[in-house]
Amino acid sequence: MTLIDSKLSDSILVTPDFRLVTLDFDKQMMRRALELAARGTGQVSPSPLVGCVIASGETGEIFGEGFYLYERVRHAETLALEQAGGRAAGATAYVSLEPHAHTGRTPPCTTALIDAGIRRVIAPIEDPNPLVAGSGFAHLARAGVEVSIGLLADEAARLNEKYIHCMRRKRPFVHLKLASSLDGRIATRTGDARWITSEESRRRVHQLRHEYDAILVGAGTVAIDNPLLTDRSARPRRRPLARIILDGRLNLSPTSQLARTAREAPVVVFTSEQVVPESASALEAEGVEVVRNVAGGGRDLAAVLDDLSRRTLQSIIVEGGATVAAAFLEAGLVDKVSFFVAPIIIGGNDAKAAIGGRGAATIAEAFNLRDLYITRHGRDVEITGYPDKGDA
Ligand SMILES: NC(=O)c1ccc[n+]([C@@H]2O[C@H](COP(=O)([O-])OP(=O)(O)OC[C@H]3O[C@@H](n4cnc5c(N)ncnc54)[C@H](OP(=O)(O)O)[C@@H]3O)[C@@H](O)[C@H]2O)c1
Repeated sequence: MTLIDSKLSDSILVTPDFRLVTLDFDKQMMRRALELAARGTGQVSPSPLVGCVIASGETGEIFGEGFYLYERVRHAETLALEQAGGRAAGATAYVSLEPHAHTGRTPPCTTALIDAGIRRVIAPIEDPNPLVAGSGFAHLARAGVEVSIGLLADEAARLNEKYIHCMRRKRPFVHLKLASSLDGRIATRTGDARWITSEESRRRVHQLRHEYDAILVGAGTVAIDNPLLTDRSARPRRRPLARIILDGRLNLSPTSQLARTAREAPVVVFTSEQVVPESASALEAEGVEVVRNVAGGGRDLAAVLDDLSRRTLQSIIVEGGATVAAAFLEAGLVDKVSFFVAPIIIGGNDAKAAIGGRGAATIAEAFNLRDLYITRHGRDVEITGYPDKGDA
């Protein structure tokens, strides 16, 4: 097995046995495999995004391509091999994630690659699924296939960050997203928040929602905004975006937009045991699922995430408000943060600051974001990053 471990330039790598490997073609093909994998966004969870290209490094020809969709069942490698046919013999397979060697919903992809006569498999990262976790690479190597690991590993890990997180931590990936004014307010003193950001930002937010299995907000936001919380990206999804509300006193109205659309996309409300049964039944009659006391009325966020995990929800976007955002941050349960900052100043001591709670006592204690991605949407700026939990 060849482990690519050191980089000389963008186009040459040196292997542990001191062979120089030209990367241009391999890199191009891996980029293509990642691009193909991304086409499954919204349609693979709880599985990973996977893309595969079968090509010849010698002639530069592409023989087959494929990407995974959960409902199609067949894996990226199978689809690419099928397209390549006999030309797969002696060719290289570029796969965006380690191929699996066990029988799951499909037979092992490693066997399919070996049987097709693939000479080399290039994959950026191991699949953290304990059923795979290196066994796919080992199977290929045992069969005499040359295996290279590490090409575009950071990009591949980012692409599947939700899946990888879920596999390792056994809980959904949590992305906190808020829209704020330049002075850090998410609403005016009267609670008005529509719209702080531009249409371009809101379009981007729907693309973000499309990447997630669930969206979560607090009772305060529902009471003031009466939101719909749907994915309006117009892109295909395997399952509708599940809408999760933390509402200890069960204030959600049966005539709210959420309740009225509960049969189109699930609405799950975490509430306490003390709520009057009639309010729960009125919501249940609309199709809302009322979860009592499992998570202390929504107060125990780790228990909320465990419940969502059991529903095979791999990822959640938390869209506020300030109280719920603070609760997730303080519990150390935020894995990614996006602020959409609009060039407006709201002002006022009573206007909601983006993050409530107690907050940091010193700047050294403030949440620090790393691996920043900063971009413009119309007149707004999106700042996205990962809270530094010291585990990077
Ligand atoms: N600009 C933006 O991006 C944005 C986004 C969202 C909201 N907003 C604005 O923010 C305002 C609402 O924010 P908010 O802070 O008042 O309300 P919130 O964070 O939406 O909801 C807070 C309420 O959620 C319930 N809750 C249940 N479990 C909780 C937990 N684990 N942690 C914290 N709360 C929990 C509590 O009510 P119970 O005691 O009844 O359980 C709590 O009072 C609105 O004006 C809205 O327009 C702006």
